[in-house]
Amino acid sequence: MVLMRFDVVTLFPEMVTTAASYGVTGRALERNIATLAVWNPRDYTYDKHKTVDDRPYGGGPGMVMKYQPLHDAVTDAKKITTVTENRKVICLSPQGKPITQDLLSKAVKLSQLILIAGRYEGIDERFVELDCDDEWSIGDYVISGGELAALIVIDAITRLLPGVLGDAESAVQDSHVSGLLDCPHFTRPEQLEACSVPDVLMSGNHADIARWRMKQALGRTWQRRPDLLKKKNLNAEQEHLLKEFIVELN
Ligand SMILES: C[S@@+](CC[C@H](N)C(=O)[O-])C[C@H]1O[C@@H](n2cnc3c(N)ncnc32)[C@H](O)[C@@H]1O
Repeated sequence: MVLMRFDVVTLFPEMVTTAASYGVTGRALERNIATLAVWNPRDYTYDKHKTVDDRPYGGGPGMVMKYQPLHDAVTDAKKITTVTENRKVICLSPQGKPITQDLLSKAVKLSQLILIAGRYEGIDERFVELDCDDEWSIGDYVISGGELAALIVIDAITRLLPGVLGDAESAVQDSHVSGLLDCPHFTRPEQLEACSVPDVLMSGNHADIARWRMKQALGRTWQRRPDLLKKKNLNAEQEHLLKEFIVELN
């Protein structure tokens, strides 16, 4: 059963379909848990040169993506499904809402997500106002086009869809899912130069291993992202484990 329909409006459709065909997203698409379609605004132009951009009003450098080809592409993307109430049109933009795990865990409940990948200096503002529900940003830096940002959103949401990750890859312990960073992970060999695998991970004692992992997750978050820890309400056991981590560190 298809749980999420992604539609990407992009001038570089193959960039999106190719990258999405690998790994976790590729498997989810193959198994029809998610679907992905791409819509090229150039296919919605009616002049000889298939013009999708024009010079900015007021002058200045660069070109701006025109309203009409984007509007027509989104209109077709909407028509593909009868679902209307559970869909969002999101413009990828460095000026948008920062993408967080919390925002993605809400988005995973949608049935259709239409992502708009800008290029050039950006998109005619009227398209954002009239046709989009929101703007999302992958961070406080500028990349050349929205395709990579759309792929990040598609990947991050797909791994949250039920049935996409196997047990071994379960997203539950991933960084940010519960407001903490993940614990460190190890695999063979047991010894690498002076570094060995913590004994507890080879003890076979599942309760001790779970306790150690929680302690490391808390400690790492305290060391690397104290801002996250401030937002999280720790229970008594977690408070105790964090204290232990700090004592052991000193
Ligand atoms: C060169 S950027 C345009 C930046 C625009 N002039 C500005 O400063 O806000 C071209 C496109 O890349 C995408 N983009 C760039 N940085 C992004 C970011 N941090 N998050 C999401 N999309 C981004 C957007 O789709 C944008 O329309």
